[in-house]
Order: sequence, then structure tokens, then C-alpha cells
Amino acid sequence: GEIHYHEFVIQATPVKRLCEMHNIITVNGLFPGPTLEVRNGDTLVIKAINQAIYNVTLHWHGIRQLRTAWADGPEFVTQCPIRPGESYIYRFTIEGQEGTLWWHAHSMWLRATVYGALIIYPEEGSIYPFTMPKREFPILLGQWWNRDPNDVLRQAMITGAAPNISDAFTINGQPGDLYDCSSQETTVIPVVYGETNLFRFINAAMNNELFIAIAGHLMTVVAADAAYTKPFTTPVLMLGPGQTTDVLVTTTQAPGRRYYIAAQAYASAQGVPFDNTTTTAILQYVSAACPTATRTSPSVFPPLFPALPAFNDTQTAAAFSAGIRSPSPVDVPDPVDEHLFFTVGLGLFNCQPNQLCGGPNGTRFTASMNNVSFVLPQTVSILQASYLGAEGVFTDDFPPAPPIQFDYTASNISQDLQQPVPGTKVYKLKYGSVVQVVLQGTNIVAGEEHPMHVHGYQFYVLATGFGNYNPATDPAGFNMVDPPQRNTVGVPVNGWAVIRFVADNPGVWLVHCHLDVHIVWGLAMAFLVENGVGELQAVEPPPIDLPLC
Ligand code: C2O
Repeated sequence: GEIHYHEFVIQATPVKRLCEMHNIITVNGLFPGPTLEVRNGDTLVIKAINQAIYNVTLHWHGIRQLRTAWADGPEFVTQCPIRPGESYIYRFTIEGQEGTLWWHAHSMWLRATVYGALIIYPEEGSIYPFTMPKREFPILLGQWWNRDPNDVLRQAMITGAAPNISDAFTINGQPGDLYDCSSQETTVIPVVYGETNLFRFINAAMNNELFIAIAGHLMTVVAADAAYTKPFTTPVLMLGPGQTTDVLVTTTQAPGRRYYIAAQAYASAQGVPFDNTTTTAILQYVSAACPTATRTSPSVFPPLFPALPAFNDTQTAAAFSAGIRSPSPVDVPDPVDEHLFFTVGLGLFNCQPNQLCGGPNGTRFTASMNNVSFVLPQTVSILQASYLGAEGVFTDDFPPAPPIQFDYTASNISQDLQQPVPGTKVYKLKYGSVVQVVLQGTNIVAGEEHPMHVHGYQFYVLATGFGNYNPATDPAGFNMVDPPQRNTVGVPVNGWAVIRFVADNPGVWLVHCHLDVHIVWGLAMAFLVENGVGELQAVEPPPIDLPLC
């Protein structure tokens, strides 16, 4: 493959949105950041130069990072943050992945503005397994606060309350026509009548899953999370943060009109405030002779608006996700060596003296997996500590099952289940073992769909369901034929998902909810995948410029 060199300068950049000018953190002054375009088999070498006032790391979401865990990027997991004035070179090769991924900051809440598309074309000499599109467009869905997102996070952490809801969602960085003083900058996607286009949707929003629809156009799903899928046609998509979905859209509507691409929240938690605004971009038919986007006067015809599901339409969300399948039969790894059962959900800490207690009934919000609320180390990354054999940074006793069995999805869960134990705990996996994880959502505090992301792996999603997972009966319903390969799975609200993978990538791999507020509350753990002799020998040695804490 080819080697691509890039410089990513992380810097403060003045950007105007919703009538207000703000200094936001960007890469190379761009918002969203630069699009990376590579082929399967290529190598990326990206020098991240931190000229901002914050510590930062970059993560290449969904890239497997085989043997290159040092380039994965989550702060204090695979590296210490790059301090202001310093730099770090991320180097990795794309192996066996095609489609759409993305990159984003993995420090505090910097990813609110530090993100971009990572497009992987088929390897040299091969083509898409679907109609060759005439045009391709990355479509990044984001979330905008008028305040500095790090301040929003800081306030939530100080008060113990939920963070302030955002001021807008965005499409390619723009909120769109439906927000005040935003209409002149609406993203316009120029299309030509009668062509097939490939839209690469990426949900880069911080804290919301999103429904997406295009007025007058159906979408044919052909890939998700950089894996091709069995094509199916749908009027609406649902993407959790972290997920990508590639769709073909054929332009069959009357030329000369404009059609909104619209997105709004799928908010599965009952009674929890959320940003219920709608972001739009415009699909604009242009003539072949005039491919540049020129907006016809809105006074002639307003753009047509698509039907979007209600914000709490769990059935539509679940049906969409369940419709995603691998294109042809796959070899699901079997039998299973490691049967793991992880609860995922919120919790509440009792307030300590001198703490602010902004959560429900004078508590503070927290979150956990198997009753462990994940805490990042501060002096060295977990990968470095395990590589060097440093003691006292983490423990390897993350529990394979919750400490007690209970009715996970009942609404009146007893108080003593609400107080998870903070810890930096990993679960060790033997290199090459077949791992199955049942992710069970809980209804402690509130049930909510959790988009669970596993770093360093693409796993099969064998099944999802509502209620409590039943180990006696639910395995009969596993899809052992054509399950999809994903890096982020939505664990349905008050439900469960079953994932399976071979632990063939040594390193330390963060597993977390991609609703960012849940990460900082502790909805995370990490796998430590060894090579079988208790060391990480199959990982390449640390790069010489690896940042120190
Ligand atoms: Cu998209 Cu841990 O990240």
C-alpha cells in the first residue's frame, strides 16, 4: 500500500455559529477537520502538533491498529496526552477494512470540535461490491454548544449534575436553516438528476443518537462501521455516536427542487432532558453543466422536509439496527472460550460533604460496568504500565459478571445497587481466545440505549433484545449466519446485545459507551489482550516520541 503523510495542527480557531463567534479547537483551522482518504492496505503517518491550550490525543475510531496499539489514542489508556507545544506521530496500517470510519480527539470533551472523516476505498485493483456511485459525500453529524464544550463538561463534573444540553446539532459543521441566523451557511450537497450517490454518514455527536432522513429519497444501506452490509432500503437511519452508515441515494426527484437531509435525537431515556432541535442540510439538484452549488432563492420553493420518527421511537431504532447484516455467510468464531456478562448503565453516588449534589435527590451522577466505575490513571497509560510491568497503575480484576444478579431492567431497583465502586480495572484476555460479551443495559436511575464501542476490534453482533438476557433461551436466536461486523453496538434501552470476537490483537483496548458524558461518569472498562505468556510482545515497541505524563 501507499504511505500517506499528514500534519494535524491542533489549534484555537475563531468560528461563528448561531450568530456567535467562538474560539474552538480545530485541526488545521478546519471545522469539521480534514477528511483522510486512503485505500485498504495503505499506511497513515500523522504528526499531531498541539498548539492549543489543552492536552490532547487523537483516536482513529474503528481502525483495528493490529500490533500498533500505541497509535490508538485514548488518553491514559494507550498514551499520555500530548501537552501544549508538543507533538506525537501516529503511524498505522489499514488491514482488511473498507468503508467509512472517522477520527476524533480522545481527551476530555475536545472531540466536540476535533473530528473528521476517514474514508477507506477498496484496495488497489478492487471495486465496491455495489453500483459504482457517481459522487460521494461524507456527512458528519455533530453537536454544538455556544459554550466551550470543556467548560460544559467541567461544570457537570463539579456539580454532579447532567451536562447542559447542546444548542444545536450540525451537519458538516453547520446547524442549518431551522436555527436562528444559521440559514445562510446551511450545508448544501449538490446532486445531479438520475445519478447514484454514496453518502457516508458519521454520527460524531457527543451525547445523542440520531435519526436521519432525506425528503423524497430512500436510502440503500451498503456498509456500516467500515464493513459492507447486505443492501436494504430504508426511509430512515439511526446512528449512535461512533457509528457510520454508508448509503446509496439515487436522485429520482424533480430537478430544480431542494430536499432537506434532516437529523434529530433518538432519545431513549424517559424524562431526561435532551436537545430536541433539528439539524438540516440541503440536497440540491444542479444541472450537469453547473456542478457548483448555487442556492436557488428560498422564496421560490422552500425545501421539502422528510418524515422523522418520534424522538422516543424505540421500535424504529431497534428495527433499523437489526436490519444490518453481513453481505454473505461468515464464519462466526465458535466455540466460546470466554463467556462475559457486563452490565452497562448509570448510577448515583451519595454526595460527600463539600461536594455539589446536582444529581437526582441530592446525589451525583455516575455510571458503571459490572458495578465498577472506570477511573483513568493519571501518571502513565495502562498500555505503558503493562508493557513496562509497572505496578500500582491498574488491577486486572475486572469482574466477568456483575457482583449480584438482579432484575436489571426493573424500574424500582434498590438503592444499594446505585453506588458503583470506582476503579482502574482491566480484564485479561488470552491472545487468540474466542470472546463473547453479553452487554446488559440496566434501569438503575434510568434506562437508556448505550452505544458501546470496543477499541481495536470489529466484533460480530449476534443478537439484541429487550428485557433481561436469558442464557437458557436467547442463544437459540443468535444469528450465526450473517451477523454484522461493527465497532459500536447500540445496547437497546432496557435490553441487551451479544457480541463475539477473536482476541487477535494484543494491547490495551478501551470499551466504553460513546455517549461522552457516560465515559466521564465511568461507563468504561478495558481489555488487556496478552500474547499468551503474560507479556505484550506482539505489540511493537513504543514509538520514541510517545508522550510522557
Ligand atoms: Cu470513538 Cu473511544 O472512541
